[in-house]
Amino acid sequence: MIRFTIITLFREALEPYLNTSMMWKAQEKKLASFDFVDLREFGLGPHKSVDDTPYGGGDGMLLRCEPVFNAIESVKAKDSSAKVILPTPVGKVWTQEMARKMAGGIERLKPASLGHTQDRSAKLTVPEEQVLANSAPHYIILCPHYEGYDERIMSIVDYPISLGKYVLTGGELPALIIIDSVVRLIPGVLGGESSALIESFSDGDNLEYPQYTKPYDFRGMKVPDVLLSGNHGEIDKWRKEHSRKAEM
Ligand code: ADE
Repeated sequence: MIRFTIITLFREALEPYLNTSMMWKAQEKKLASFDFVDLREFGLGPHKSVDDTPYGGGDGMLLRCEPVFNAIESVKAKDSSAKVILPTPVGKVWTQEMARKMAGGIERLKPASLGHTQDRSAKLTVPEEQVLANSAPHYIILCPHYEGYDERIMSIVDYPISLGKYVLTGGELPALIIIDSVVRLIPGVLGGESSALIESFSDGDNLEYPQYTKPYDFRGMKVPDVLLSGNHGEIDKWRKEHSRKAEM
């Protein structure tokens, strides 16, 4: 069972997706579990404030250290093995290979020993000797909001992850994408697929060929006849010839 604990101010933005379709099935089959921690509960003062203005001036508000550290430490107090993911546009760009490692639970990093001044993406390069088996990985996903976060938060993060070269308003959408791409790779979640098939897919070197279903003729666009021939040798040949490497 893979566990995700999501620290957010907006659990209502995440729950509908996680309780639908495959993510819901993964929970039903006890292959994944999703818990929420309300960052507001760790807010400061009567208004439970979680953000403040930046030193040195500038627009917007930044997530403060105290609520974030206290929220993360409250989770780690119950499970010290939990690793922290921070969705951030300056993180390492998320790939299928990284999703596969998380789904397998084999990617284990030393506790965050790199300071916040060092190259953030360096933490995702895992030397072979640090890779250990772990059948019950637990990931804490911290969802920042507002214009950004105090840089010292990086010192408690194991995986700073970017979903691409664009900026979103918060970490909730990245959290859903990370969870979805990991959970679908867990054997048993998608049902029909064998784990071996999923494994080869997730290696990123799968071959994607065009596929068709009924009707045979849709507005003049016909299904290639070879696919109706029943000749499996010819079908395999056609599929190989028309395969495109997935961009991963
Ligand atoms: N937060 C804001 N933009 C982001 C991005 N592109 N990836 C991950 N987290 C983000």
